[in-house]
Amino acid sequence: MAIQNQIPLLITLASTIAFCAQAQNGDQATWAKRVDSGDQVVTTLQFYFHDKLSGQNPSAIEIARPLQGGAALPGQFGKLLMIDDALTVGPDPSSKLVGRARGLYGSAAQAELNLIMALSYVFTDGIYDGSSLSLLSINSALNSPREMSVVGGTGLFRLARGYAVAQTYSADASGDAIVGYNVTVATNI
Ligand SMILES: *[C@@H]1O[C@H](CO)[C@@H](O)[C@H](O)[C@H]1NC(C)=O
Repeated sequence: MAIQNQIPLLITLASTIAFCAQAQNGDQATWAKRVDSGDQVVTTLQFYFHDKLSGQNPSAIEIARPLQGGAALPGQFGKLLMIDDALTVGPDPSSKLVGRARGLYGSAAQAELNLIMALSYVFTDGIYDGSSLSLLSINSALNSPREMSVVGGTGLFRLARGYAVAQTYSADASGDAIVGYNVTVATNI
């Protein structure tokens, strides 16, 4: 084939590739970035976690505490909460919802506040809708920043491993807290 005959084909190919790239970018969420390096995909996620213990509709409720001792210690040892906390793009609770953190955290230390977090971060936005990350880690909640381990996931996060860096944005006497998260996870697919 002469080169002149191939030009329309090349133009069609180039515009198809440009269209696909654009469609992919259009699916990308502002709060999450995926970088595919060939043998792994590294995703960085940035969101805020709203732990609301006060008011009529708390998203974090105490479900157990020790009959004696424990909870009176500085670490409130033995206290256990179930949560269904909103995850949003910004620190404002009315900013866009991107998922929820569901599961348990409990006070796992006697002398200081150290929480054991056993949570699923279930996402609902963009290409991440339906995907989740599992976090299982000690959380030294009074330290900022603090680091926690991400041990797995589902959907786009199958075989995920990584870490979350958290920083308390605000906290008050009622126990309500807004926490900023930067999560970095790698997957092979
Ligand atoms: C997350 O990363 C951004 C950009 O690097 C930074 O400004 C922010 O402070 C980080 N947040 C946390 C909770 O570490």
